[in-house]
Amino acid sequence: MKILILPGDGIGPEIIAQAIKVLISVKARFNLALTWEEALIGGAAYDSEGDPLPADTLEHAQAVDAVLLGAVGGPKWDSLERHHRPESGLLRIRSGLGLFANLRPAIVYPELAGASTLKRSVVAGLDILIVRELTGGIYFGQPRGIRHLECEEREGFNTLTYRESEIERIAHVAFESALLRNRTLCSVDKANVLESSELWRETVTRVSQEYPAVELSHMYVDNAAMQLVKEPRQFDVIVTGNLFGDILSDEAAMLTGSIGMLPSASMNKDRFGLFEPIHGSAPDIAGQDKANPLATVLSLAMLFRYALDLPSVADHVEQAVKQCLHAGILSADLGGSAGTSEIGDKLVEILSG
Ligand code: IPM
Ligand code: MG
Repeated sequence: MKILILPGDGIGPEIIAQAIKVLISVKARFNLALTWEEALIGGAAYDSEGDPLPADTLEHAQAVDAVLLGAVGGPKWDSLERHHRPESGLLRIRSGLGLFANLRPAIVYPELAGASTLKRSVVAGLDILIVRELTGGIYFGQPRGIRHLECEEREGFNTLTYRESEIERIAHVAFESALLRNRTLCSVDKANVLESSELWRETVTRVSQEYPAVELSHMYVDNAAMQLVKEPRQFDVIVTGNLFGDILSDEAAMLTGSIGMLPSASMNKDRFGLFEPIHGSAPDIAGQDKANPLATVLSLAMLFRYALDLPSVADHVEQAVKQCLHAGILSADLGGSAGTSEIGDKLVEILSG
């Protein structure tokens, strides 16, 4: 088994370093035939190769069993042309590997129920899964750009399209996920205003006929944003498009106490995947040993579960994260004072104990 590791920018290298400690530890404990190599992506890749996704990196990713990514981006690269920016490297690797299905679980650990800005009574026990479409919608629609109008004013424009086949395949992933959970799926759209959402709703409803055991509901995205903070436990699995999923998953992260806790898996049709925390590169705290590495470590657990089909290793890593929280070894975002590296060391201690 081969893994490609892409540390990226900002806090990326620090949080990835903790995931590598965990990798080394579980490799020994479970006697895994596992190797890994690192490559460049994002601003780091632009600085060294002039491209936020060098061809080498994409080719390397195509040749391994799974990819683990830290984070990309930072103010240093914000004024570059869009195709040179770190974020475009991330969007290109998602698209280049066909990673259309993005699974973003949001779980409230008992130790952290008080860390959310929402009342404990609202978030305690929360366990939801956001299934975000990742390679279509307004992120990738053409045409896009900034054009000069005759009246001397400029106009920015993007295109939101969804094909039936794109909606169908993400709907299948969502229904399959719901079957493994509480069999309740809420599809989020803006069908009262957008034609692309009208087709989304119609298509998800059609696919639902193949899954009679799953209870399907539909919700407009504005209401979903409200319901997520009002009564988040009404949800089990949420399926939605690229942009809505980006926004709702950040919102869901805050229910769990910190965005530093949310892992994600981005899968293609062959069940090949890229695993990354949903948070960004946090340039404001980069290099200060303050970042929470748990979303990255939990992403590694998802990699074991979904890409390498090693659920017992995944359980073991997730259990170590719970024990670390239970021991009160918390980073600043969770109200503690533990450093990034200290948390990695604690995880290793627990894993090898
Ligand atoms: C995410 C991030 C990315 C996105 C950015 C960094 C391009 O916010 O993974 O949620 O918008 O998809
Ligand atoms: Mg986001």
